[in-house]
Amino acid sequence: MKKPLIAGNWKMFKTVDEAVTLVQTIKAGVYKVTDCDVVICPPFTALAAVSKILADGPIALGAQNIYPATEGAFTGEISPIMIKNVGCRYVILGHPERRQYFHETDDFINEKVKIALKYSLIPIVCIGETLAQRDNRQFLEVVKGQFDQSFADLTKEDILRLVIAYEPVWAIGTGKTATPEQAEQMHSYIRRLLNEKYGGEVASRVLILYGGSVKPDNIGLLIRKPNVDGALVGGASLKAESFSQLVVLAAEQSKVEARK
Ligand code: PGA
Repeated sequence: MKKPLIAGNWKMFKTVDEAVTLVQTIKAGVYKVTDCDVVICPPFTALAAVSKILADGPIALGAQNIYPATEGAFTGEISPIMIKNVGCRYVILGHPERRQYFHETDDFINEKVKIALKYSLIPIVCIGETLAQRDNRQFLEVVKGQFDQSFADLTKEDILRLVIAYEPVWAIGTGKTATPEQAEQMHSYIRRLLNEKYGGEVASRVLILYGGSVKPDNIGLLIRKPNVDGALVGGASLKAESFSQLVVLAAEQSKVEARK
């Protein structure tokens, strides 16, 4: 098993003061954990304050979005250079909420992925189907389309520098998690797509996270699946206790696997 990655997506929650308190408590809760990588993605307004607290520590900072330009007259947008400058190593791209509420297309996400890589940010690129698409049994086709377009023109080296998050839309914030079997089916399918396009070596190294109602009581079974390399966590990342527990549980599982 690869070292798991647990990423917290705080979405549009937490003022600067609340963010500072939360990140300090998380830091204290996970400081002993070495077998799991951790990323925290606060809202833009809290990045600078959280960055100071995480400086020189093992927890990485991420942003939740960027605009695909270096700078310019794009009122209300934030560039890759700006988040880099504030200390971000990661950026979430193509989150289903951005696709749904802000009409982001795969082509636009592809532009963002390219510019993020250009500025040495690690994109966490989300793909996943809606409930209707799952019910119509189109989910593999939908995810393949998102995969092909969001990663268009990327080289093997590019792919090795990004993280994929499978986020079934029907499982986000709904309390309905994909079963470990449903997650594994899609993760192994994504791994197969990686293999077909970029070869086995690349396919085996890319981290594929699962996202959608991940909590301490379901992480264990999810992360035990061979192709689930970690989680992108929304709701449960807003409480220090549940987020720290997720990190500890993921790290324990990776130790168990290492001993096998
Ligand atoms: P959730 O969100 O854990 O609250 O379902 C996951 C996500 O949107 O990344």
